[in-house]
Amino acid sequence: MILFIISLLTLAKSDCIPYGVRLSLGHYYSALNDINNYITLTFNSQNLCLDYVVQIITTTSINNIQVNNFSLLNMTDVYKDSENVINYETYVYDVKIGQFDSLIEGNQYTFMIYWENTPMAGPFYFNVPSKSLNYSSKFIVMGDMDSNWKLNTSKQTFDWFSNQIKKTTHYDGIIYLGDMAYDLEDDNCMVGDNFLRNISLFTSHFPFMLTLGNHDSGHNDEFVYIRKSFATPRISEYDNPIKYNDFYSFQVGHAYFVQFHPYKIAYGNKDKTYFIYTLYQMEQELSRIRSHENTSWLIVYNHYPFYCSNPDDGFCEDHYKKMQLFEDLFIKYRVDLCLAGHQHTYERDEPLAYNKVAQFDKYENNTYTNPKAPIYIVEGAAGNDEIMPEDIYPPKFYTKFQAAGDGIGILEIKNKTHLYFEHRMSANDSVVDYVWIVKTNVIPDDDDDKDKESIPIWVWILVGVGVLLIIALVAYCVIKNKKPKQTHNEFI
Ligand SMILES: *[C@@H]1O[C@H](CO)[C@@H](O)[C@H](O)[C@H]1NC(C)=O
Ligand SMILES: *[C@@H]1O[C@H](CO)[C@@H](O)[C@H](O)[C@H]1NC(C)=O
Ligand SMILES: *[C@@H]1O[C@H](CO)[C@@H](O)[C@H](O)[C@H]1NC(C)=O
Ligand SMILES: *[C@@H]1O[C@H](CO)[C@@H](O)[C@H](O)[C@H]1NC(C)=O
Ligand SMILES: *[C@@H]1O[C@H](CO)[C@@H](O)[C@H](O)[C@H]1NC(C)=O
Ligand SMILES: *[C@@H]1O[C@H](CO)[C@@H](O)[C@H](O)[C@H]1NC(C)=O
Ligand SMILES: *[C@@H]1O[C@H](CO)[C@@H](O)[C@H](O)[C@H]1NC(C)=O
Ligand SMILES: *[C@@H]1O[C@H](CO)[C@@H](O)[C@H](O)[C@H]1NC(C)=O
Ligand SMILES: *[C@@H]1O[C@H](CO)[C@@H](O)[C@H](O)[C@H]1NC(C)=O
Repeated sequence: MILFIISLLTLAKSDCIPYGVRLSLGHYYSALNDINNYITLTFNSQNLCLDYVVQIITTTSINNIQVNNFSLLNMTDVYKDSENVINYETYVYDVKIGQFDSLIEGNQYTFMIYWENTPMAGPFYFNVPSKSLNYSSKFIVMGDMDSNWKLNTSKQTFDWFSNQIKKTTHYDGIIYLGDMAYDLEDDNCMVGDNFLRNISLFTSHFPFMLTLGNHDSGHNDEFVYIRKSFATPRISEYDNPIKYNDFYSFQVGHAYFVQFHPYKIAYGNKDKTYFIYTLYQMEQELSRIRSHENTSWLIVYNHYPFYCSNPDDGFCEDHYKKMQLFEDLFIKYRVDLCLAGHQHTYERDEPLAYNKVAQFDKYENNTYTNPKAPIYIVEGAAGNDEIMPEDIYPPKFYTKFQAAGDGIGILEIKNKTHLYFEHRMSANDSVVDYVWIVKTNVIPDDDDDKDKESIPIWVWILVGVGVLLIIALVAYCVIKNKKPKQTHNEFI
């Protein structure tokens, strides 16, 4: 009897073990500027377990957040009337970590998850990025990853992450370029469940900012599992009359990131309303950003590359044609960098406009000075069993560098004038390619008095000449006035 009770207790306890611990940047970084939501922490449990407490530990205080928001992800219900027989339920908890006294942007903290006063997960270190314009940010960029390891692909990337975490390396987040798990809803959703467990190695430390790929669409093409599992596409500020367009954007330091999900457009859906709405939304957002931050870095990402070199994929042939109206906006609003996945390699291309190499002032030592169109990078090499090309593709006229094999990108926005991107091989952390984008003629924004640039010498000369002219004019008038006054009558 006692044994029975104990085993019941252990069972209850194991059902309440939080799993799939994942962070994402909250609405403080979006246009909402919500100081109660710096970071969203999401995790799952098999059973509905209340009484979770998340503890945030700073150098001077311990803050407990009671978890009282959960939702049931009932995949059994989603597919109850279809030929896909699924029997899977899980509970998803969202915890908004907001501002409190001892939380300072740019600093590192630790969190733990407790259930009924028992530590259940953690401690995990995490960083609170800063929106201050003097903040240099650093993101991991990757895509197209599973954790099935039938062929041991992605193992090297997981090991790479283990090493980074051992060294408590600071990253502001992970830009995840779509396609995960292969596929989330397979094997009665256990592939997705395991993937969430496995990636929490790194998603528990680095906010995971994803875009949705074709492999993430689920059995019914409605992206149910991924949408319910990650807080990012659930961001509701951009809710609109068109269901499921998953648009969001955020700002860290001097960089604005805009994510969009053109799945239907990419696969030739003729739904014009959807196309027009996504385009409208993109224009609204890019113009909003440019109207108040004219000189910041603007980075756009989605799953499908506009440009790429894989000769066997139609996307690399003409996808840019389908996306031309988006490209118009990227050029109009001076987008600096476009990131995509889908190809399971790394590829860096020239700055491009309408399938032509765009102008730039100079390219030297992997450094573009003042490119006139976005640079395109494909970063889909995190590793998966579906396909990992052994070699690079025949380069196109715009292909600057390619690498095959497990790898990840690191994007660093150093300051207002310097952006840096590099590609590292997961196996040995060696940097095999890098690029700088440098802007030399940055005009300070009106509201930006933090780092006023020095006034050029010709302005001083002009001002000097002007002052001299005024003095001369005043002197002339004074002398003239000393002359005997003439009566007005003369003029009548
Ligand atoms: C509660 O969670 C749901 C989904 O999990 C989310 O949409 C909602 O915004 C959350 N509410 C609060 C108050 O956090
Ligand atoms: C999930 O959905 C199935 C099918 O509709 C239903 O039988 C089951 O009770 C639901 N689970 C919960 C916990 O509500
Ligand atoms: C950035 O500026 C803020 C205030 O303007 C200052 O507190 C902070 O120390 C600065 N950070 C860096 C890295 O210079
Ligand atoms: C992923 O999780 C499953 C179940 O927990 C485990 O069997 C598998 O080894 C994990 N894979 C990786 C790559 O960690
Ligand atoms: C995967 O790695 C394990 C352990 O390193 C090894 O035993 C196994 O043979 C590898 N499998 C493949 C397909 O390479
Ligand atoms: C932003 O910069 C562009 C090009 O430098 C300029 O044409 C435009 O007028 C500027 N807009 C604002 C709001 O300053
Ligand atoms: C490019 O690299 C070469 C060799 O390291 C160096 O001499 C040259 O000054 C560099 N050019 C620029 C613009 O940094
Ligand atoms: C911007 O960053 C680059 C690269 O780190 C550095 O060389 C340059 O001096 C920085 N500019 C300013 C104004 O801090
Ligand atoms: C790192 O690994 C890549 C292949 O994954 C290899 O080409 C390169 O030579 C290695 N570099 C070093 C420094 O070992």
